[in-house]
Amino acid sequence: MEKYEKVKEILRKNGQEQLLVCYDKLDNEGKEKLLDQILNIDFEQIKKLYENTKNNKNINSNDDLIEPIDYVDESKLSPEDYKKYKEVGDNIIKEKRLAVLTLAGGQGTRLGYKGPKGKFDIGLDSHESLFELICKPLKKANKEYGVIIPWYIMTSNENNAETVEFFKENNYFGYPENEIKFFVQGEIPMVGEDGKILVNEKGFIKLAADGHGGVFKSMVKSGVLKDLNNRNVEWLVIGPVDNPLINMADPIFLGVTASKKCMAAGKSVVKANPEERVGVFCKRNKMPSVIEYTEISPEMCNLRDEKGELVFGESNVNCNLFNMKRINEVAENELPYHAAHKKADYIDKNGKLVIADKPNAYKYETFIFDAFESMETMAILRVKREEEFAPVKNAEGVDSPATSRELYKKYYNIK
Ligand code: UTP
Repeated sequence: MEKYEKVKEILRKNGQEQLLVCYDKLDNEGKEKLLDQILNIDFEQIKKLYENTKNNKNINSNDDLIEPIDYVDESKLSPEDYKKYKEVGDNIIKEKRLAVLTLAGGQGTRLGYKGPKGKFDIGLDSHESLFELICKPLKKANKEYGVIIPWYIMTSNENNAETVEFFKENNYFGYPENEIKFFVQGEIPMVGEDGKILVNEKGFIKLAADGHGGVFKSMVKSGVLKDLNNRNVEWLVIGPVDNPLINMADPIFLGVTASKKCMAAGKSVVKANPEERVGVFCKRNKMPSVIEYTEISPEMCNLRDEKGELVFGESNVNCNLFNMKRINEVAENELPYHAAHKKADYIDKNGKLVIADKPNAYKYETFIFDAFESMETMAILRVKREEEFAPVKNAEGVDSPATSRELYKKYYNIK
């Protein structure tokens, strides 16, 4: 009862009394869970996030100085440089200084697939899932280098059990089971347009995944960071689950980054056209950054250099490399949250279920690329789109299972 009174007082102070609307209907275990959830909420943080959203205050101000960023074009490396970088990268892999991490906590809303996106079958005759397709180049690298690259997989509360079960059912796709570690990403409450935190259909706090930028904090919380440090891993590649052509164990990527003494790196592909809806690498106030397609002006989109190339044309494919020293530092700092206006069903303060037919709430997410702005040195490696980029984002049209499947088949010469 003491706990209940304490929670009530906290809620009163913060004007969030609606959070106990279903309390009386819950069993004892549920009551306890709800009280703990509330005690874990950082009300000050939520208040600030909501106020920023309401005032339309974006983290990226228009006064930012945006400049193009230097990159290395892999296809233009001289044979000597290629050999030099490959040797450096080969050694990193051979000496077990590389680990990889797959971001698999997303909801795949655009794709409209209900289960974990990694289970999705892009329609190859083999019916291999995205997880299996991503696993293949890792197994190949293990064989080539005589190592087993530790593979970390970030899931969400929503899809963790199903993901783990899927790996078990498929015998871990032949990957050594003890070298795969799953961990769950963080969550943050969703907030209504009036600033009130939402209650879900079961009477608990309505939580949503905190974005792929949450990976750093979740690595700390889950013990993954400690595990990596204990294993003396020096470099971590973090990549998405939805690109079956992703090449994470890439010696050139490692070699270029380490040789240039950079603490992080990102792979880019040339923007398909000025209007392509992708973020592009840039320098923001002199630091590495990504400018989102929603932020970039039409003039900047179309700006070309003397060779006719787009000045802001290095599309971010979300395959990034970090030195572990930097990961340890980034994990200690907060990344900025971005608000997304979403549809959310919830229980209102009178205990009535509200079904959303239009966006009615805010979801707050952090993005991995916001961590770039604290990296004073970052290498951008331009790779070939047709060799490394076949994203599955939408159910149909661009970046859909059909386009991804065709790119995959073309690259692997599958009939
Ligand atoms: P996206 O945001 O592009 O894809 O995430 P999504 O979340 O799967 O799909 P939409 O936006 O709902 O349609 C890029 C990568 O980051 C992971 C995704 O699983 C994907 O691999 N991700 C995204 C997370 O791991 N956690 C998140 O909170 C968000």
